[in-house]
This record gives sequence, C-alpha cells and structure tokens, in this order.
Amino acid sequence: MIRSPGPKGHPLHGSWPEFRADPLAFLLDGTLTHGDFFRFRLGLQACFAVSDPAAIQRVFSDREGFTDKTPPHRMQDAYPKSVARLEGSEHLERRRALAPAFQREALLARADGAERVVREGLGRLRAGEVRAVMPVLEDVALRSASMLLLGDAGERVVEHIATELPRVEAWLGHAADDEAAYDRAREALAASILKAAEHRRAAGNLGSIDLLDPLVRAVDAGQMDEQALIDEIVMMLVTHVPTAAASAWALFELAQRPEVRSRLEEELDAIGARGAEVERAPLLSAVVLETLRLHPPVWVLAREARREFRHGPHAVSAGNEVLVSPYVVQRLPQYWKDPETFLPERFLPGSPWHVERPSAAYLPFGLGMRKCIGERTAVLQMKLMLAALVRDFRFELPAGYEAGVGGRRALVPRDGLPLLVERRRSAGRCDREQEIVR
Ligand code: HEM
Repeated sequence: MIRSPGPKGHPLHGSWPEFRADPLAFLLDGTLTHGDFFRFRLGLQACFAVSDPAAIQRVFSDREGFTDKTPPHRMQDAYPKSVARLEGSEHLERRRALAPAFQREALLARADGAERVVREGLGRLRAGEVRAVMPVLEDVALRSASMLLLGDAGERVVEHIATELPRVEAWLGHAADDEAAYDRAREALAASILKAAEHRRAAGNLGSIDLLDPLVRAVDAGQMDEQALIDEIVMMLVTHVPTAAASAWALFELAQRPEVRSRLEEELDAIGARGAEVERAPLLSAVVLETLRLHPPVWVLAREARREFRHGPHAVSAGNEVLVSPYVVQRLPQYWKDPETFLPERFLPGSPWHVERPSAAYLPFGLGMRKCIGERTAVLQMKLMLAALVRDFRFELPAGYEAGVGGRRALVPRDGLPLLVERRRSAGRCDREQEIVR
C-alpha cells in the first residue's frame, strides 16, 4: 500500500486557498498532474479526488461504506422531509413511490402543456437586445417543471409558484436577515402547493401519473404529513436552476458553433419539434448530452468514508472525504477525444466520435441509489426549451464577453450569460407563433 499522490499544501490550511480560489481548476489540474486518485487536505480534512471510473462505481454502490455528503443542488437542509434528505429504507420506499411520475410515458403525456408555457415564457425575449438569458431560462424552467410534475393541478398554480418560489430561494442563505419575510414567502409557496393537492383530491387525476398522485395518496392514508408533501414538491421544483444553467450553456456553445446550430435548425424544422416530438430529434438529444458533459451544473459529488476503503494501491480511511467531479471526469483525455471541444457527434451512434467508454466516465446526474430522480424531467425540459429557442431565435455572444463560471450554487455562466437575441424567420411558422415572439 502506498500513500496516494497529491499536493503537499500548507501545513495548516492544506490546499484550501487554491481550492477556494478555483475549485474546478484545482480538481482538473490536480487530476492531470497527480492522477485519477489523488489526495489533498482542506484544512485538517483529508480528501481524495477520485476520477477513476472503476473506483467511482465502487464508491457510489457502497452505501454502507460511505455517507452522502452532497446536499442535492446545495439546498442545505431547507426541505428535510424530501427524498433527497431521507436515509435508508425510508429513502428507498419514497423513491419507489415517486418513480412512476418520472417514467418516460408519464412525462411525455404532459409535454404539450410544458411546451406551451416554455413558448409563452420565451415570448419575453426581445429581439435586438443584449440581455442576460439566465433569469428568463430559470423562469421558463420553473414553469415547465410545474407542468411536468404536477399535471393539470400545476396549471392552476403555475403562476403562484413562478412568483413565490424564487422569493423563497432568494432568502436561502440570507434567512437570518429577515426571518419573518422568509417565513411569509415559504407560507405563500406552501399554500399554493396545498391548493394544487386540494385540486387533485377534488378532480382526481385526469391524465397520467404525476408527482401529486403518490404524495396525496400517502398523506390521505396517514403515511406522510402535509409538510413532507410540500418539502418534496418544492425540492423537485428548485432544480429548475441547474436545468436553466445547462440550457444557457447550450446556447453559449451553439452561439460559437454556427455549423452545429444550422444542422439543428434543419432537424427541428423537419420534424416540427412540438411537445413530445422533441424525442424524435437525435441531434437535439446529442446537443443536450454534450452540454451536460462540458458544463455539468452539479460539478462535484461528495461522500464521506464510514470505514476504510481500498482501491488498488490507494487507502481511504474512515472520516476522509471522497470528491467525484463530473466536470473533471467528463474532460479526461483517456475517455474523451479532444475533450475541451463541443462535439455533440460523440453521442450519435455511427459517428467516428462515438466511442465506447466506462459508464462512470459520464455522470452529470450522479450514480447509484442517489442518482438524480429527475434526470428524464431535466433532459425533456432542456429539449423543449432548446427546441423553442433554436427554432425561433438566433443568439450571438456580445463582443468582449469573457466566458467563465458565475458564482452561484450550480455551475452557471458568468453574468447570467448576456446574449444578443435575434428573431429567426423559418418556413412554416404560423401567425400565432409570430405573436408570441413579438
Ligand atoms: C440539469 C439538471 C439537473 C442536474 C445536473 C441534476 C443533478 C443531480 C445529481 C448529480 C444528483 C446526485 C447528487 C448526489 O449523488 O449527491 C441529483 C440528485 C437529485 N435530483 Fe437532480 N439534477 C437535475 C435536475 C433535477 C430535476 C429536474 C429534478 C426533479 C424533477 C431533480 C431531483 C433530484 C432529486 C430529488 C435528487 C436526490 C435523489 C435522492 O437522494 O434519491 N433533479 N441531481
């Protein structure tokens, strides 16, 4: 057994100053220099940055050996009764109960409603203006998530949720400033969710299974309290931020790759790309996957060892932290040819760029029992948003924009990604669409 390689760091602070200054560069450069299992300290805490897919598989499948340390989307403990915070058998049972709402057919059955709110929301983009697109994308992602997750009841409360949830989020981290305002915002949001639940009880489900069905059933059977229902739904909806961030990164890449953008325009014009039709667009799907490779919004996953873990020559002791960064793993040249280049073709079978690689070399949604339950929802939302954006608009980066990461919870583009928006005239658009874009 040898000690894993890694930077020595400061005797007291370890590598904390370098990590804090630029964690992505620290982890990527560290991996390229010291290898895919390197050791460092953050203060007195011993950490291992692990990018070896075989080791990642083992870490994420060993639930006894590691505790979960990543609050999903860094929502801390704001929603303690949601599946993301539950442990052991309670966690498994909740995941099982919620799973039908995230199945492909269930989501696609609600895609038309989601597409409608996407197009209405994007109607706020003004042609001829340079504007940060993140706020519009966040709003649209939140509205489409409400429609996909709450079905017809979402329709009734989407307006309230789109107003109240961003207020609650704005208070997170600043709650100490004005507890009363934070409480008021949370109460208003909770009231909207309970209204949706009430509507579901009164009307029954008019379509496919959504998130409200299992939750309302569990509350009515006395298996769960109303706070758990509220926490679960809010937790699922706050994920609109990573979804919006990933969509913004796709626009960032397409703005610099006119040849990819025009092939995508052709594909979308040919199939129509309305609602569930987005599932028939292979290049759109590849653009989404490649964006999540280069710009994974959840850029690091953390686990703490409960007992010693050995992998080849490496030994992680109980209490040590293991950091797995999708950002790093998805840029390693041993798995990704020309890793810094945006090449959606990697995800198109038959393309020379499409190569077999270990499954843990691509993990924007995590791995194992804590893997993102909303993966299909997020990918569908991204497809709906990008299809509408690419079909109706063109985007240019303003001169002098310096690409980089903005300081938010998820990996978001700097300054909310300012883009020059132009309207695109495509064949076959009807008057109604012209009105929405105007
Ligand atoms: C692009 C958007 C998204 C990304 C990149 C993302 C990424 C992730 C990742 C990496 C994890 C695993 C965290 C860990 O293992 O520590 C996770 C967990 C989770 N995600 Fe997402 N997510 C996204 C969107 C969504 C959406 C739309 C929903 C809900 C509709 C959602 C709900 C959840 C939940 C509930 C968990 C916790 C699962 C559990 O603990 O069993 N996410 N997500």
